Amino acid sequence: MAPSHDKDRVTLFDTTLRDGEQSPGISLNAQEKLEIAQQLARLGVDVIEAGFPIASPGDFEAVQAIARGVEGPVIAGLARAFPEDINTAFSALKDAERLRIHTFISTSDIHIQHQMQNTRDDVRRMAREAVAHARSFCEDVEFSPMDATRSDVEFTAEIVAIALEEGASTINIPDTVGYAVPHEYAAFIARLYELVPALRGAVVSVHCHDDLGLAVANSIAGVLAGARQIECAVNGIGERAGNAALEEIIMLIATRQAELGVHTGAVTREIARTSRIVSRLTGYPVAPNKAVIGRNAFAHESGIHQDGVLKERSTFEIMDARAVGLESNQLVLGKHSGRHALAQALSELGYEVSGAALNQAFRRFKEIADKKKQVTAMDLEALLTDELREATAEQDGYSLEFFDVESSTRRPPHARVGVRVPGGELLEGSFGGDGPIDAIFHAINVATGVDARLREFRIGAVTGGQDALGETSIVVEVAGFSGSGQGVSTDIVEAAARGYVRALSNAVRRGRAEGEAAGADPAAAAAGTP
Ligand code: KIV
Ligand code: ZN
Repeated sequence: MAPSHDKDRVTLFDTTLRDGEQSPGISLNAQEKLEIAQQLARLGVDVIEAGFPIASPGDFEAVQAIARGVEGPVIAGLARAFPEDINTAFSALKDAERLRIHTFISTSDIHIQHQMQNTRDDVRRMAREAVAHARSFCEDVEFSPMDATRSDVEFTAEIVAIALEEGASTINIPDTVGYAVPHEYAAFIARLYELVPALRGAVVSVHCHDDLGLAVANSIAGVLAGARQIECAVNGIGERAGNAALEEIIMLIATRQAELGVHTGAVTREIARTSRIVSRLTGYPVAPNKAVIGRNAFAHESGIHQDGVLKERSTFEIMDARAVGLESNQLVLGKHSGRHALAQALSELGYEVSGAALNQAFRRFKEIADKKKQVTAMDLEALLTDELREATAEQDGYSLEFFDVESSTRRPPHARVGVRVPGGELLEGSFGGDGPIDAIFHAINVATGVDARLREFRIGAVTGGQDALGETSIVVEVAGFSGSGQGVSTDIVEAAARGYVRALSNAVRRGRAEGEAAGADPAAAAAGTP
């Protein structure tokens, strides 16, 4: 919540783990969500919407882990205006230092008639009951009239007044389908203030989707109309075209503070790292020209621009790359660095690693340091995230034990792999494919007996240079359930194999969780020769 003593402070409400996670192909497990939430806390967001606890057992588990493990921000959980949703949200959140229940119901006639198939009277009753029920669990309740910007403003005002009467302290105005334009969105909020005087005693929030590329512009228009909470997501991920990008909101407010007259509590130098972690774990790449965090965001190509910046930075730069943490790719360790130096470097990056985890990280670091002259902060981050995934896989998923692949221009490639399955058994499989990576992917299917179908495959480099670490991001589908996986290695074939096994593992895990209720096991359903 925005501190009530500071009327110019904008609350940053991050919904990467809820709306962001609804992006197609993203399937984060609880451990990965916890890692993102911890980084969001370092970035200084005020509220983390950790998930939609009733949506799946995996969502519940992740919200609970974040409520228990993340200190600082308020932890919020989403709930439809149903008692069971609200009960489940509270059960998942109840161990948080500070918690919020966020409940919503649509107010647009399009949604009322066609999606919910009920009436305005039902919406009046359900909104009242939902907020009252949520307030019976906690003081901090947020209410959203979904599809607000396509709703009748008088009816929305009526529902907002009901939510306030029942004790909601934040009223969020979603532009659910990204349809609004800035002056219209601002006018909608201004009209609500006129129609509902009690709204001045609450925090008005904005939640804008980017279908027409206006999410950030609309959010700021809402702030200028009086809103003091912005809902946004790292790298702008979210339903369809996504949400307002958190990093753009933070830097827009920081850079144009004098004009806008508001500020946030964000630690801007954590922006780049937050973006990288989210991109790596979700498998959603960041476009090179993406505002604030794209790799070209501070690069000057034309001679005139380069000349100007060399003479005086402000000729063509409105922000400093250091302010968003984009300069963090400095050399931190070399091949002679010891365990203590590694622990210290990791600690500077915000990771406290000791005991067996440090030994394991050190082993991986040495492997990489033998092949790479310079190990940078970005390499260490990638390595640590990779170790985290491996630890999760060893607990309850499939993990790659070894692979052999022969590839030549004269013979078709042939691969043999060993995969450790849940329970510890080592399964082996082999296959001849169109290329070495194709052969390995098929051999993994043979070894596990899971008919995984490749849907997306991306390869990139963690840093520049010939000896850069390779990074893969893979999405597979198993019996209709998709899963994403990433892998990091100096050997791109190994990075691909690791990413594929993890994607397969996540798809099977997701299918199991969602299919169990329906009595189906996707691993069994998909078993067979690929
Ligand atoms: O876009 C939307 O309307 C939402 C609500 C649940 C706030 O995400
Ligand atoms: Zn949304």
